[in-house]
Amino acid sequence: MTKFLPKIIQGGMGVGVSSTKLANTVSRAGQLGVVSGTALGLTFARRLMQKGNEVYLEAMNHFPFKKVIEKIKAKFSVKSDQDPFKMVEMPTIHPSEDLNELIVVANFVEVHLAKKGHNGVVGINFLEKIQFPTLASIYGAILAGVDYILMGAGIPHRIPDVIKKLTNHEDASLPIKVANEQQNDIELSTFSPKAFAQDEALPELTKPQFLAIIGSHTLANYLMKSEFGSPDGFVVELPVAGGHNAPPRGNYALTESGEPIYGARDVVDFEALKAINKPFWLAGGFGNPDGLQKALSLGAVGIQVGTAFAFSNESGFEATLKQRVLRQVIEGTVRVKTDIKASPTGFPFKVASVEGTLSEDDTYASRKRVCDLGYLREAYRKDNGSIGYRCPSEPVEDYVRKGGKVEDTVGRKCLCNGLVAGIGLGQKRKNGHDELPLVTSGDDLLFLGPLVDLESYSYSAVDVLNYLLNT
Ligand SMILES: Cc1cc2nc3c(=O)[nH]c(=O)nc-3n(C[C@H](O)[C@H](O)[C@H](O)COP(=O)(O)O)c2cc1C
Repeated sequence: MTKFLPKIIQGGMGVGVSSTKLANTVSRAGQLGVVSGTALGLTFARRLMQKGNEVYLEAMNHFPFKKVIEKIKAKFSVKSDQDPFKMVEMPTIHPSEDLNELIVVANFVEVHLAKKGHNGVVGINFLEKIQFPTLASIYGAILAGVDYILMGAGIPHRIPDVIKKLTNHEDASLPIKVANEQQNDIELSTFSPKAFAQDEALPELTKPQFLAIIGSHTLANYLMKSEFGSPDGFVVELPVAGGHNAPPRGNYALTESGEPIYGARDVVDFEALKAINKPFWLAGGFGNPDGLQKALSLGAVGIQVGTAFAFSNESGFEATLKQRVLRQVIEGTVRVKTDIKASPTGFPFKVASVEGTLSEDDTYASRKRVCDLGYLREAYRKDNGSIGYRCPSEPVEDYVRKGGKVEDTVGRKCLCNGLVAGIGLGQKRKNGHDELPLVTSGDDLLFLGPLVDLESYSYSAVDVLNYLLNT
């Protein structure tokens, strides 16, 4: 089969912004639709707890190993609107069997729904930094026949080997970063497809393409030399892209409002990229017809676009939140800040200033710190040699008790709860302070005006494709 190289990749946007509906629409239209693989175990469980879960229950029926399905259905059923969501186990290096099953099935269902009813290609996006659920997630996506796996926010040099092994139902392992430890191969996350399937038949699987999302040609060259295999292509993301950004290289200065300044060392050498001889796409500020032409002229196969799709009708953002954002775009009152503190990962993270969301300092300050989702926790070594987990956005005293530095907690936001609330799956709290959304976006948000219908404050994903392709 010849490889299909799409002109447009609809970027993977977590948590849940790159929904199954969005990816399905884009893939059906002949481009590469991508679902977000971030925190799917959690969002899938919450979807099963909401009215309208029939589509997820139906998708589960296509999962090849039947035993686990009944367990999950028994565990998560529809709750009343007033009740909080039942807790889901937080990810760790060695998750319980139940959590592993939930993650595999969640990733399967997400890809299955994105692929449903058409022959187009579908991808799934992961963040390298979120390591604990990676193996189970990749296996679930491959079981559903995912065509592309894309991974950014880190150095995914072992992923080609992981994909190869899991496609063949072989055991795979991934060394997990432990805070302050240099040697990276002591704590291993492991996954065994055969143990997972128990005695059920293993389906034949097709190996997906792997695209590494990178910020520099240097990283592309490094990944090409990995002893664990090389990527099939690259998405080169520039710092105006939404979500997490690669920090500037080396020591860097800040603008007056505290945003990082990128310099000469961050400029991508497109000639060096071309010399690698692998297909590449450009992302970050290319989401317009000129951007596509510019990318093609630089030797790219096409572009990866996020922001324009993020606020389309089909995206996972909660509908009234999207309308609010687009109204502010038209009124010219929205701003996008690259916040170097907000993300517990320490990576710069783009936050859109939207009324009534956690971008407002007072609103965030009134939120009681709590860490109950745990996707961005880091592993650390306790005094007794065992592994613990901590997040700089958790209650300060807890973080410090676990050996974290108090200065690392300043300005940190709970991305997990904020992003999940943005897709309408926010937790209800007993104290009445329900979790509020945090909106991430690329700088391109400011330029979405031409796409927006001024009566409904909306537009569709197909409008975005037509706009980009000038059709
Ligand atoms: C709301 C939002 C969330 C995003 N989340 C992720 C993510 O989870 N993983 C990732 O690799 N990129 C993420 N991105 C980046 C996009 O996949 C894409 O590369 C980027 O948005 C392209 O730049 P543009 O927004 O200027 O079109 C996100 C972007 C947006 C707007």
